[in-house]
Amino acid sequence: MANSLFSLLVLLSTIYSVTAQQNVTNSIRQRSSLTPTGNSSWLSPSGLFAFGFYPQGNNTYRVGIFIAGLPLNKTVVWTANRDDPPVSSNVTLQLTPDGRLILQHQSQDSTTDVVKLNQSISSASMLDSGNFVLYDSNQRMIWQSFEHPTDAILPGQILSRNQELYSSRSESDHSTGLFKLKMQSDSNLVQHPVDATDTPQHAYWYSGTATIDGVNGVNVTLNLDRDGHLYLLNNSVNILKNLTAGFSESRSLYLMRIDIDGIFRLYSFSLDN
Ligand SMILES: *[C@@H]1O[C@H](CO)[C@@H](O)[C@H](O)[C@H]1NC(C)=O
Ligand SMILES: *[C@@H]1O[C@H](CO)[C@@H](O)[C@H](O)[C@H]1NC(C)=O
Ligand SMILES: *[C@@H]1O[C@H](CO)[C@@H](O)[C@H](O)[C@H]1NC(C)=O
Ligand SMILES: *[C@@H]1O[C@H](CO)[C@@H](O)[C@H](O)[C@H]1NC(C)=O
Ligand SMILES: *[C@@H]1O[C@H](CO)[C@@H](O)[C@H](O)[C@H]1NC(C)=O
Ligand SMILES: *[C@@H]1O[C@H](CO)[C@@H](O)[C@H](O)[C@H]1NC(C)=O
Ligand SMILES: *[C@@H]1O[C@H](CO)[C@@H](O)[C@H](O)[C@H]1NC(C)=O
Ligand SMILES: *[C@@H]1O[C@H](CO)[C@@H](O)[C@H](O)[C@H]1NC(C)=O
Ligand SMILES: *[C@@H]1O[C@H](CO)[C@@H](O)[C@H](O)[C@H]1NC(C)=O
Repeated sequence: MANSLFSLLVLLSTIYSVTAQQNVTNSIRQRSSLTPTGNSSWLSPSGLFAFGFYPQGNNTYRVGIFIAGLPLNKTVVWTANRDDPPVSSNVTLQLTPDGRLILQHQSQDSTTDVVKLNQSISSASMLDSGNFVLYDSNQRMIWQSFEHPTDAILPGQILSRNQELYSSRSESDHSTGLFKLKMQSDSNLVQHPVDATDTPQHAYWYSGTATIDGVNGVNVTLNLDRDGHLYLLNNSVNILKNLTAGFSESRSLYLMRIDIDGIFRLYSFSLDN
């Protein structure tokens, strides 16, 4: 595992048109609902991203965010409660009249929270950036998926101090897998196996940008721009290290993910068609 731990893979895919099972919605209101086999997702205004059910095999499903245009192996960028068991088709996701986002299990007559909040959710939006956001009754954002990454980040999303990405178990099972990528508070971006301690001898890759841990005023984040420029930024101003220089194709969507083999890769999807 010692070499080529960060690789760049350019994957060109065609984004297909929206399927009939999905409905474009700018604002998702209370009482809106989804089911795995009916209206299964809420689309972003352009139809690029969807929030809703995606299949997990054996007629089971998980709730997450995915690139909606890719038909079979939907490209999942976020998963809710990824280590909970997947659900059967007998389930309804609802933004309830009292402002909770829940899964209602018909066969067991029970509910689970998709996102657990103290505050009441007034509405939700699936944005074209791939960020799923929840609002209170004053239209203030009270939660966003961009602040709770699972195994991937999208342009505009940052991995901030002490945040981690965890690989998935397999291509089809998005529960927590074997590897993680952490933006350490000492400014080093580091990869470890999940079941090892966060010590340097267990790291199998690091960015080499460590500063003295706890030094005041240093706040390094991993950033991805729309052009695929991936870099470590100090205090939102100076670039500590470029991981990629960025690319010139303008009609592409970039996505960085720590894959099941523990390598983090930058993917590019063509937005033509
Ligand atoms: C999408 O939603 C709108 C408004 O809720 C509805 O009028 C329309 O029939 C829906 N379209 C589909 C394809 O479900
Ligand atoms: C999908 O939602 C629309 C309204 O938004 C509704 O008219 C339609 O019947 C729903 N389709 C299914 C399969 O539930
Ligand atoms: C589907 O379920 C069967 C029986 O429980 C199990 O043997 C099989 O491994 C499952 N397949 C997948 C892909 O989860
Ligand atoms: C999706 O599946 C196809 C064929 O099975 C494969 O060629 C392609 O690489 C897969 N895409 C992703 C993003 O995994
Ligand atoms: C769905 O619910 C119905 C009625 O409660 C039940 O008969 C059926 O076995 C359930 N199916 C699954 C897959 O749980
Ligand atoms: C929820 O409210 C309790 C009590 O007011 C507070 O201690 C807790 O931090 C809150 N949790 C979140 C996620 O805001
Ligand atoms: C990070 O930025 C702060 C000022 O915002 C500066 O004092 C510090 O030297 C910078 N650290 C590095 C490693 O660039
Ligand atoms: C670090 O910087 C990010 C933005 O660059 C900001 O969102 C975050 O609040 C900062 N964290 C601290 C502890 O200052
Ligand atoms: C990082 O890349 C940006 C944009 O490509 C460039 O402007 C900058 O000079 C680079 N910085 C370093 C430290 O290499």
